[in-house]
Amino acid sequence: MQFDLSEEHLMIQKAAREFAQNELKPGVIERDELQKFPTEQIKKLGELGFLGMMVDPKYGGGGMDTVSYVLAMEELSKVDSSCSVVVSVNNSLVCWGLENFANEEQKQKYLVPLAKGEQIGAFCLSEPEAGSDATSQKTTAIDMGDHYLLNGTKNWITNGNSASVYLVMAQTNIEAGHKGINCLILEKGMSGFTIGPKENKMGIRGSDTHSLMFDNVKVPKANRIGEDGFGFKFAMKTLSGGRIGIAAQALGIASGAYELALQYSKERKAFGKEISKHQAIQFKLADMATRIEAARLLILQAAWLKDNHLPYDKESAMAKVFASETAMWVTTEAVQVHGGYGYVKEYHVERLMRDAKITQIYEGTSEVQRIVISRLLLA
Ligand code: CAA
Repeated sequence: MQFDLSEEHLMIQKAAREFAQNELKPGVIERDELQKFPTEQIKKLGELGFLGMMVDPKYGGGGMDTVSYVLAMEELSKVDSSCSVVVSVNNSLVCWGLENFANEEQKQKYLVPLAKGEQIGAFCLSEPEAGSDATSQKTTAIDMGDHYLLNGTKNWITNGNSASVYLVMAQTNIEAGHKGINCLILEKGMSGFTIGPKENKMGIRGSDTHSLMFDNVKVPKANRIGEDGFGFKFAMKTLSGGRIGIAAQALGIASGAYELALQYSKERKAFGKEISKHQAIQFKLADMATRIEAARLLILQAAWLKDNHLPYDKESAMAKVFASETAMWVTTEAVQVHGGYGYVKEYHVERLMRDAKITQIYEGTSEVQRIVISRLLLA
């Protein structure tokens, strides 16, 4: 069993760490406060190859493995999860889905610019009444011969406004249940496709989360991914890998907060000595570091399984549920270590605590992960 990272992994980790510290940290408090999308930062990340990391170079990607992606996600998320969520959705939901299930023509048209970071993609499954219960899709895509007529609403769509390409799940054959769902590729600006206002969120406030409305949108048949009725399986398979990326985001939020707490504990004095010399704080730091390391191992295991073409649905769900709960717990403790300073924006940990919460909700709530894990244990 090998636990050390390769030279290439270390280089990617270093590049992501430097980008996070030099390019993301300076404006992160302001972007959070103003709910400002990190447009310039995403452009630079695209130019550096972080938006299509795992895509085959023949489609404009970096040809890297999932372990590299996890390392980059952790470093970016230590500082700015509003930015890393864009990286995550583009890489593991949109690019991975297209590379693995789209046809050659769709790949040339949509995957290439997404992998090069020239465009951003969005993954559209959630609806006002279909979040965790994803089979209950109300958006309809009626078969009109050479095109589908799309009607309905999608909710909580990451990159809702900044995306150019949208992968939209919709019900074509209601009687067939989840086997009647299709995934259609939409382009921004299609007639009848409108974008709702930006959600005013607790965390990841820089990312643009929107509702999408479809009113008789004509989507060419050529834009369907896979066979008729493949849409739900497409979404489940794609989300399974996506959960590794969100687990890595949660890990980054946790390790970012831990690093800040560790540093602060060595500087801040109380009762005549640095607070790191008090056992109450030492025990907190020990628990934080231990949980973070356990989350990291679960995530790297899931990434390794995926890279080696072995089943990883259970492990990615385990990694996500554990890492996201770790992020929530560690960030709360990090605020506690900082005392009153932890409750104000300048010290970063309050933002990390707010950002941690979404990792327990998106790409499947903690409850959904437990459904996935227990079903696979009992199968
Ligand atoms: N791979 C392949 N097929 C899968 C699969 C997987 N990982 N998981 C399920 N399926 C298949 C099943 O085999 C089944 O097919 P058959 O009937 O042919 O056997 C079909 O899908 C339906 O599966 P279930 O019967 O298990 O469906 P269910 O209704 O019980 O729901 C669920 C299962 C796990 C709860 C699922 O609905 C789910 O994952 N919900 C959460 C959805 C989610 O993660 N949403 C997040 C939105 S995206 C997002 O957040 C992105 C963002 O912006 C950041």
